[in-house]
Amino acid sequence: MGMRSRTDHWSFLLGEIALYSLAVLFVTGAGLMVFYDPDMTLVTYDGVYAPLRDVPVSQAFASTMEISLEVRGGLLIRQVHHWATLVFIAAVCLHLLRLFFTGAFRRPRGLNWLIWVGLLLTGMAAGVTGGILPDDLLSGGSLGLIQGITQSIPFVGTWLTGLLFGDAVPGDQVIPLFYWLHVLALPLVMAGLFAARRWLLRRHGATHYPGAVRVSRLGSLMLFAATAGVLTVLGAVVQINPIWLYGPNRPGTISAGAVPDWYMGFLDGAIRIMPGWEPVIAGHPLTLSVLIPALVVPGAFFTLLAAYPLIERKLTGDRGLHHTLERPRDAAVRTAIGAAGITFYGLLWAAAANDQLAHHFHLSLFAVTWFFRVAVVIGPIVAFELTRRICLALRWQEAETKSHGVETGVIVRAPGGGYAEVVRDFDRRLPSGT
Ligand code: HEM
Repeated sequence: MGMRSRTDHWSFLLGEIALYSLAVLFVTGAGLMVFYDPDMTLVTYDGVYAPLRDVPVSQAFASTMEISLEVRGGLLIRQVHHWATLVFIAAVCLHLLRLFFTGAFRRPRGLNWLIWVGLLLTGMAAGVTGGILPDDLLSGGSLGLIQGITQSIPFVGTWLTGLLFGDAVPGDQVIPLFYWLHVLALPLVMAGLFAARRWLLRRHGATHYPGAVRVSRLGSLMLFAATAGVLTVLGAVVQINPIWLYGPNRPGTISAGAVPDWYMGFLDGAIRIMPGWEPVIAGHPLTLSVLIPALVVPGAFFTLLAAYPLIERKLTGDRGLHHTLERPRDAAVRTAIGAAGITFYGLLWAAAANDQLAHHFHLSLFAVTWFFRVAVVIGPIVAFELTRRICLALRWQEAETKSHGVETGVIVRAPGGGYAEVVRDFDRRLPSGT
């Protein structure tokens, strides 16, 4: 069977990489817990970093500074923890894309799809709560954003803000609260999701690409070592979140030039391009400028993502069980929907750099912002139609070659004197005459 019996495809590795990055997060997180102190009480900084000496900082900030600059190997562990976060969420996203574009979410694997969407959401929540913990200026920016988003919710916003922050913002309770979410609640949910995924995989078996006969287990130990190795090298040589450069969180101050982690860029972009609508309804302001980009749009996006298997089943009426994966071109509409989704997300993400784009390309910030406002609406439609047509064209071309064979450029002369070109059989890719 040669190449066609190959059962392992590189895209099957993405889910494993996510699992191993999470293992690295748990191990490094446990190390950080030993020295980190989730306490917002102000103390006078008296560590080794001279520029901040005698500055009032929270105990949380002081302990993260100590981890970074005084605990032996502490900075490495912190940086590996942060790099593992970026890789974990990227691997989950790519794995979701693989499941989507190959139709791997079809029955009986709808629950598996939900598990991965759940891992994406809990991973983002863990990343955000973790990013708050050091209580530096960047954490302060995120806290300000969380406060703004919470307050924009009609009716319950003010009450929710009080629940999260207490009497004052930032107050002294939000970091302890996020700490327990971060080190206990979210890790438990994530571990539970991976356990459920394992159980489902055992129950239903793995999917396979068309033409592959059997799926074998991948070299797990090797891949774990490779993931952990790459994360350690990244943590060792590529600086990430240097909180001593940002300084401690000071309410009313915002960091410049520091950007959120990549997975939160779409939210940043959405907020940047939203017009400043704030209608007053029955005497109450409705902050649509925050509510729509920060809650309504992401809420709708992730709901549609989670519900997609159900939606597709309803629309196509296909309730059959599928263990063989589909090629993206064979499901043109689904692939087109995926391309539209990626375009939408990607444009929101790029919009988070509207200031950088304006600055580097010498454009007005206003023009760049308007470009994105139009592009997030038009872009997905264009991507949908373009992708659908490419899929159809690829299939048409394939059908064409299948019925006529593949031209070889070899001309033979028949005994009767005529000339003919040798064509290869499409499937076997061997000259049909041999
Ligand atoms: C058992 C699991 C975990 C434990 C015990 C843990 C523990 C901690 C602790 C103590 C900190 C504060 C110290 C610091 O900021 O350096 C922290 C920060 C952080 N955690 Fe975790 N964590 C866990 C899982 C996760 C997961 C699953 C994610 C993301 C998917 C994550 C992302 C982060 C991030 C982004 C930070 C900020 C790191 C920085 O300072 O640059 N953690 N974690």
